[in-house]
Amino acid sequence: MAACLFILIILIAFWIRSSHADPRLEIVAHSCETASVQNVDKYSKLYAAILENMGYEMYRNKFAFTEAGKPPDKLYVLSQCMDDLSNFECAQCFSKIGNLLPGCLPATGGRVYLDGCFIRASNYSFYREITTEGDMKRCSDDVDTKEGFQKLLRNVLQKIVYKAPNNRGFGLAQEKKNGTTVQGMAQCWRTLDKDMCSACLIDAVNSAFHCMPSEEGRALNAGCFLRYSTYEFANDPDAGSTRYAIVSFIFYVFFAVAIGLLAIAIGLCLGKLAYITKNSGRKRKGKELDFAAMDKAMQFLQFKFSTLERATDCFDASNKLGCGGYGEVFRGTLQDGREIAIKRLYVNGKSRREEIYNEVDVISKAQHKNLVRFLGGCFTTVENFLVYEYLANKSLDTILFDPERKKELAWGIRHRIIIGTAEGLEYLHKGCRVRIIHRDIKASNILLDLKYRPKIADFGLARFSSRECDKSSLVNNPVAGTFGYMAPEYIAKGRLTEKVDVYSFGVLVLEIICGVKNTTLESDNYFETLVTDAWKHFQSNTTSEIIDESLEIEDVEETKRDIQIGLLCTQAKPALRPSMTRVLQMLRHKDMELPAPTKPPFLDECVELSSSFGFIPGKSQMFNLHRPQDCNYQCL
Ligand SMILES: *[C@@H]1O[C@H](CO)[C@@H](O)[C@H](O)[C@H]1NC(C)=O
Ligand SMILES: *[C@@H]1O[C@H](CO)[C@@H](O)[C@H](O)[C@H]1NC(C)=O
Repeated sequence: MAACLFILIILIAFWIRSSHADPRLEIVAHSCETASVQNVDKYSKLYAAILENMGYEMYRNKFAFTEAGKPPDKLYVLSQCMDDLSNFECAQCFSKIGNLLPGCLPATGGRVYLDGCFIRASNYSFYREITTEGDMKRCSDDVDTKEGFQKLLRNVLQKIVYKAPNNRGFGLAQEKKNGTTVQGMAQCWRTLDKDMCSACLIDAVNSAFHCMPSEEGRALNAGCFLRYSTYEFANDPDAGSTRYAIVSFIFYVFFAVAIGLLAIAIGLCLGKLAYITKNSGRKRKGKELDFAAMDKAMQFLQFKFSTLERATDCFDASNKLGCGGYGEVFRGTLQDGREIAIKRLYVNGKSRREEIYNEVDVISKAQHKNLVRFLGGCFTTVENFLVYEYLANKSLDTILFDPERKKELAWGIRHRIIIGTAEGLEYLHKGCRVRIIHRDIKASNILLDLKYRPKIADFGLARFSSRECDKSSLVNNPVAGTFGYMAPEYIAKGRLTEKVDVYSFGVLVLEIICGVKNTTLESDNYFETLVTDAWKHFQSNTTSEIIDESLEIEDVEETKRDIQIGLLCTQAKPALRPSMTRVLQMLRHKDMELPAPTKPPFLDECVELSSSFGFIPGKSQMFNLHRPQDCNYQCL
């Protein structure tokens, strides 16, 4: 009887399939839990009852979760289709997974992922699980090594992570470029709220990205499913759904009865098969570890919000390190004793979110001994956190501009800070696959470790462009940075090139040598800055007068040389400023002859500047457009 019905269903399914979009019945994964239930007989009856009840629910809502039995023999089941399937396709898909699932008996439960739908059963309530140890990924063996594929994929994955949490958990995106197409789809189970969906998808994106350069990858999490492919697999979700309503009703009646009977049959007879699938599941898992080891694509750690809360005593004010342009920075201690710095980002609106991804993108690509190491992130729909290594000596400004602490910085240390910073900057400009302009080089963005080795921080303002840079993209960026460090052409015209960083670096060099801020010189003239002062002393050959008095100078020539390099970097004309590569050569080779610097900006541009900006240059006024108004943190 059961076999008869089953054949009928298959026939109907084929008939409908041939006249309909694809319900995507390929089995992606079928795994069973390792523990066994006591009462197999009882469970097979529970399966039969539950699956029968779920059938109609699935057809109507493409989603169902239910439970039956009494502890200790209780069964929980959840099933959901991808939202692009029509109700009818969903019913088809469910009929297949509904048959597969009881095959896990006598295991306590299991999961089946098809490309069109998902089902999971267990003896506890797992409905709100986001990720678990049993999560998997599947990567195809065919690879796509075309240039630009990775970028395309990243765009697609980012889009669906934005989209899905606000679209009932479903996200679909596609990009096409240079003959390559990438389609991505994600589906969260409806038992998750928006935040949980986001968290699940971010984890899934990370797993799927590890499939690079496979043409196709799937992440199979406890709370969501994600798939990308170089071919278009998704259905048009609006394609005919009412036309087949009558057929579908007949179909439903058949399959509901059939599933009930089949579940009992499978449950009672195929205990052995369950063990076989269980073991093959384990083997597949082993293969995945190899994939992970081989993979070198973007990867960063996900921190749980609760971990960060614990590390910072719920973001207690005593753990606040500072308040930067993009948010507050907290110091935290992980349970293993490691210290971290946590940047809590201000997010409002989509554009800011894109900036965060930009930052994550930039910092996960840029790794150098003179750049602050990025450890990972925590992303929820409400708040976003970036986690970095913690540097014991905090930022350069806290030492350099403190009358007592500045004595810690002997000349040798200062010279090494200058060279290290230059190396970090040169790496950003030349060393990475993309060209990065930091835009906000200043003393408070240079962090020092225990041995005062410098590391550049805060890539929040960084922008990068491809090597064949499109000039127009460099203009019209909103001007952001810190006044006193910003190059004149950037303030006046928004022209952004590497030479903007070179200018800021020059200011920094002079500050390091003189031990004062560029913008706090005591003077009647608002436009008198450290840079113009150093320039005047250079012209009258009295540069040794501006060197920090707390310094015991071992090598006056070297110090004077560094001042001259600082002045070369702060020349008014960007074209005259040396590249960072050139700067490094000059710093390293003392016998290399230095050109004479030309004049710095602002000496005769005061009127033009002050009238066009309505603020007073020369005072330490922040010009950081992204600086938030207040920094009070409310713990959730
Ligand atoms: C599920 O079954 C396993 C194995 O029989 C048992 O150890 C566990 O306690 C059960 N869980 C619940 C919530 O009943
Ligand atoms: C476009 O594709 C061609 C051939 O597949 C390749 O040579 C070229 O580099 C690609 N261009 C870009 C911008 O990816």
